[in-house]
Amino acid sequence: MNILILGSGGREHSLAWAVKQNPKCDRLIIAPGNAGIAEIAECASLDIERGSAVVDFASAQSIDFVIVGPEAPLAAGVADAVRAAGILCFGPSKEAARLEASKSFTKEICDAAGAPTAAYARFTEAAPAKAYIRAQGAPIVIKADGLAAGKGVIVAMEEATALEAVDDMLGGAFGEAGAEVVIEEFMEGEEASYFLLTDGKTVLPVGTAQDHKRAYDGDAGPNTGGMGAYSPAPVLSDEVAQRALTEIVQPCVDEMARRGTPYQGVLYAGLMIQDGAPRLVEYNVRFGDPECQVLMMRLGAQALDLMQACAEGRLHEMPVHWAEDHAITVVMAAKGYPGAYEKGSTIRGLDALPEDSKNMVFHAGTTEVDGQITATGGRVLNITARGDTLSEARDRAYAMIDQIDWPEGFNRSDIGWRAL
Ligand code: AMP
Ligand code: GLY
Repeated sequence: MNILILGSGGREHSLAWAVKQNPKCDRLIIAPGNAGIAEIAECASLDIERGSAVVDFASAQSIDFVIVGPEAPLAAGVADAVRAAGILCFGPSKEAARLEASKSFTKEICDAAGAPTAAYARFTEAAPAKAYIRAQGAPIVIKADGLAAGKGVIVAMEEATALEAVDDMLGGAFGEAGAEVVIEEFMEGEEASYFLLTDGKTVLPVGTAQDHKRAYDGDAGPNTGGMGAYSPAPVLSDEVAQRALTEIVQPCVDEMARRGTPYQGVLYAGLMIQDGAPRLVEYNVRFGDPECQVLMMRLGAQALDLMQACAEGRLHEMPVHWAEDHAITVVMAAKGYPGAYEKGSTIRGLDALPEDSKNMVFHAGTTEVDGQITATGGRVLNITARGDTLSEARDRAYAMIDQIDWPEGFNRSDIGWRAL
């Protein structure tokens, strides 16, 4: 099978790593890829948000299966274009990808499905939005409806912050994405992520994870895309996970099918868990980054069989062989991230590190310049390890970090603390 994976981050490196271990995989191309991915597969430059460009490339390269990593191509309808060209594709249609691309759409689906989530109201005008905030009081959560690169959510502990957020969003701070705002009840509890594949009918859980969103130790500092993650998430016990499946995810998947827009791909359910009861915070229509890295570490080669069965609508045939162990990933980022940071520094010491089923360095933002691995992004490397216990996995990951020589980078030293 010739496989094309779209994307360029640590998520896509881990997908490529897992897929490549499967004997079914003949040729593997990642577009656009990065320096780490180039060590295990072919990379190609391609405008991955343009369906026709992806279809032309896939046809020319005799690609049998396209796996879409990030949300932007999905929201742009790339999976629709690939399927329309008769090529198998893992990832939801543009219409189904609204589960991430529109927060008010997700609320509508939850309402119709009876799935527990925060109470909410939606607005396009500032005056009624502010009146609603004053009536509800803080804490309260203000969200831009559309995709805002992870920056469109303000958890306001004070009423003034909430009022200001409404002015910012409706005033155009996020462009079209903020033309409508969703104002939500503040939910208390512990957050965890649940990853499920669905072919539109069958829903198959493939793992749980928790991430660390703040930049610095002790969950301090600014919000980031995620500074580390681990799997499994202890708070998502079998019982809580079963409730999340039957009360939230399956009813939403059924509602999408009922509307004639079945969801096919991975659903990443962000959950808030309080007293054993899960509520939906949000859906993403892709694997999390860096959560994917820990899931792939634990799933290995079967990830390809599962994604293929998902795309072919025969997920009901598939068992998942759950690893009993733990995985962790620690993000190394460029100093300054998530604010301004330098690009172009050299990373040394990677060659000496083990790369096997227990230890992997996934690249997120790297390129090769004159034979040297060079940092090109904010989040740059994902140091990933497995172990029989989380603390064993953590020790392995930090032992690898000790061998990496990159003075311009930093990482948190406490990934996994909540579960440890
Ligand atoms: P989102 O982009 O929807 O994942 O939101 C970013 C983060 O904001 C989430 O991971 C939560 O930590 C927080 N958040 C979002 N919605 C709520 C809510 N209704 N109550 C409490 N926290 C929330
Ligand atoms: N790590 C969070 C995300 O991928 O959205």
